[in-house]
Amino acid sequence: MDPRPIGVFDSGVGGLTVLKELVKVLPAEDFIYLGDTARYPYGSQSREVVARLAREITSYLVECGVKAVVVACNTATASAMPQLAQEFAVPVMGVIDAGVKRAVAASRIGAIGVIGTYVTMASGAYQQALWRSGAKQVWARACPLFVPLVEEGLVSGEMARLAVAHHLGQREPVDALILGCTHYPLLKGAIGEFLGPQVTLIDSAESVAALAPEELRLDPAPRREGRVQLQVTGEDRQFRAMLDLIGGIGGPVERVRIERLQEAYARRARQG
Ligand code: DGL
Repeated sequence: MDPRPIGVFDSGVGGLTVLKELVKVLPAEDFIYLGDTARYPYGSQSREVVARLAREITSYLVECGVKAVVVACNTATASAMPQLAQEFAVPVMGVIDAGVKRAVAASRIGAIGVIGTYVTMASGAYQQALWRSGAKQVWARACPLFVPLVEEGLVSGEMARLAVAHHLGQREPVDALILGCTHYPLLKGAIGEFLGPQVTLIDSAESVAALAPEELRLDPAPRREGRVQLQVTGEDRQFRAMLDLIGGIGGPVERVRIERLQEAYARRARQG
């Protein structure tokens, strides 16, 4: 087994839902998780800016010696993939294709919905992937209230119910809904209660973890307990609160200066 860690990143806490599932599927692997909390949220920035941030973080993780990278953020995946995967020598996996595959398999009628940030929805990345994969109908909606709710830990109760009703009250009939933002699995209870059992919720975190061993070309691992290193570029209060809410992952949270990511990117650009 290659002992180098796997890099995982998101704009903040959302990717922790992916990390948790990855650790379940790959318990012997080491991980470095970077939450770009200083530059969160990605969902209201331009695609070009998000693509640049994704390149900086990937350059930094590669300099840290990772053997593969999981882009645990739909907004970054929609903005920077597949180019990111072509630019780096290590395997780079996004979150969109995994969710699409699972949704197409789960839908009986081929009518599939997808929700995410403005940037992800405007990129059309999910919609195109769904049409390519044989969906008969595609319904897409940006749900901007969900990310701040999750960041504040308001994942159940009246506020969550009102936000879900506001964003999903009027929709086309679908029987599978992709949670196309890594923050949204935390609202799965509230969304599932509102939509009822006839709509299957597709959790991108679970879908990514299931496909990761193959996509990241990982060797079978021996029996050992992997280590998780947690890093943030800015604020860590919400990050720690989210670790408690998600459960299953813990440990010290280290601060990394944004300049380190930018320097890694500049060094890479100089090397060509
Ligand atoms: N978690 C990110 C995603 O999957 C979005 C959060 C943000 O807007 O930064 O798209």
